[in-house]
Amino acid sequence: MFANENSKPDTGGKKVLIAYYSHSGNTKAVAEKIQRAAGGDMFEIKPLKAYPEDYNTVVALAQQEKAKDVRPELVDNGDVENYDIIFLGTPVWWYTMAGPVKTYLSKNNFDGKVIMPFCTHGGGGESSTYTDMQKLAPNAKVLRGYTSYERSAKDEDIQEWINSVNL
Ligand SMILES: Cc1cc2nc3c(=O)[nH]c(=O)nc-3n(C[C@H](O)[C@H](O)[C@H](O)COP(=O)(O)O)c2cc1C
Repeated sequence: MFANENSKPDTGGKKVLIAYYSHSGNTKAVAEKIQRAAGGDMFEIKPLKAYPEDYNTVVALAQQEKAKDVRPELVDNGDVENYDIIFLGTPVWWYTMAGPVKTYLSKNNFDGKVIMPFCTHGGGGESSTYTDMQKLAPNAKVLRGYTSYERSAKDEDIQEWINSVNL
């Protein structure tokens, strides 16, 4: 088993946060795997008005919101001030991050922070997700992302990803 205290990366006393939005549970499942590998606090990004569950309805709504660059209000904007490394996860919605993650990035100050981005998708890959995150947090250091088809992320691949970046 790799997932024990001893195998966690040496983050040099840096504080780790895993923040994610998940509509249908895939990104949440990957976030939980990351927490098992890296430790750290968890923060679920939640829109004040939950998105519809029906797939076609949410797909159509998200398309309109993307066109208008809507930043939906969140239940809690969170606070990244006390963290050094933020794992930031999203489902891919229309080739980029979901709206609530755009809000989260724009409502927090990521200057000087390290972002470890991750996403889950339905077959199209990360598309512009990570480059768009960097645009919304221009003074953060956005490192290589971890991309998972739905929730198929493997623990050993997550571990390899974490070990391969210079935290
Ligand atoms: C509104 C919406 C837009 C989507 N757009 C894409 C896309 O552009 N590319 C893709 O590969 N998958 C797309 N998908 C599939 C999701 O990225 C995929 O199911 C993801 O794992 C869902 O994560 P979640 O369960 O954490 O919400 C879309 C799904 C929804 C609901």
